[in-house]
Amino acid sequence: METKLRRLEGARPDPEILREAGEIIKKGGLVAFPTETVYGLGGDALNPMASQKIYAAKGRPSDNPLIVHIARKADLYEIASEVSEQAEKLIERFWPGPLTLIFQKKDKVPRETTGGLSTVAVRMPGDQVASAFIQAAGGFVAAPSANVSGRPSTTTAAHVMEDLNGRIEMVLDGGQAVIGLESTIVDVSVPEPVILRPGFITRQMLEETVGKMDVDKAIISPDSGIRPKAPGMKYRHYAPRAELTVVEGDMAAVVERINALVGECQEAGGQAGILAARESESLYPAGMVKCVGSRMEEGQIARHLYEVLREFDETDVTRIYSESFADDSVGTAIMNRLLKAAGHKVIKV
Ligand code: TXA
Ligand code: MG
Repeated sequence: METKLRRLEGARPDPEILREAGEIIKKGGLVAFPTETVYGLGGDALNPMASQKIYAAKGRPSDNPLIVHIARKADLYEIASEVSEQAEKLIERFWPGPLTLIFQKKDKVPRETTGGLSTVAVRMPGDQVASAFIQAAGGFVAAPSANVSGRPSTTTAAHVMEDLNGRIEMVLDGGQAVIGLESTIVDVSVPEPVILRPGFITRQMLEETVGKMDVDKAIISPDSGIRPKAPGMKYRHYAPRAELTVVEGDMAAVVERINALVGECQEAGGQAGILAARESESLYPAGMVKCVGSRMEEGQIARHLYEVLREFDETDVTRIYSESFADDSVGTAIMNRLLKAAGHKVIKV
């Protein structure tokens, strides 16, 4: 299949391209589209065949449920059977935006879309292209991140083409995703809301709105063998091709240890890559250093993390050593993704 690539401007998306993209979805086809978090691989959420195609195109296990994307708050009530008062408050403050909420679903949403679950994940993206596309597509677009399963999520149309060219009908190019990490997920189908995946909307922001909130234990202690409540969190996602190790601790000690590890790797005939912050990138004399952004601006690091992991995939490095980042605010999401990419391989110094 030939994958069409179409550029869309957020402020004034071309109505003809939107119509073409919308028609593809209505006929059961797939279109990748930009959102403020990462690119999504969209299909008609109410069409079970479209959801099956999404799983096939990604090479993703079909027990891993999809997020349904909407463009109007009112559409939530078409697919969710119960919306709690707490959910209403979160919607009021964070929609449209990078927050996904889990509800009990209505029958209208096929089980193929929810991976067999009786709940449905719903998000209303803030990105203008996403919103216009969802409306053109009929209002309910199921979309996982637009990457081949096991690879880092995509933050540009070029990344999407790398992974999905030939497997889907169209890619809408809306430029680089501004956040760069997947949405925060909160389960509001239970009496006490729980954070299932950390993201740009932080625990603190959520708690300001609805009071104290728990985090799924499987996220905090990933080796404990507890089954995560978001099925997707159990898979080793976002993995670069080279073995990735995160080095954690005091900065000077981290730099020293990474330099030693690079030396060992090279002596053994390997090629080492280093993932570093702007502040320390010049402290590594050997190996291939890639800067992910400044520690003074976490947003930059979030935005570039997947891109840098993908860049390493283009090289012949055999090992990647990464600095670690502050584990609070957006840093919680950065460390969650980085540690998953590393398969939780951490050296503490
Ligand atoms: O930012 C995002 O959320 C992006 C963009 C495209 O919107 N989408 C995204 O989708 O990250 P995906 O499929 O890569 O991740 C969705 C996560 C998975 O971990 C999945 O298991 C979880 O959401 N999920 C979906 N429906 C669920 C449900 N009913 N209950 C619990 N977890 C659910
Ligand atoms: Mg994903």
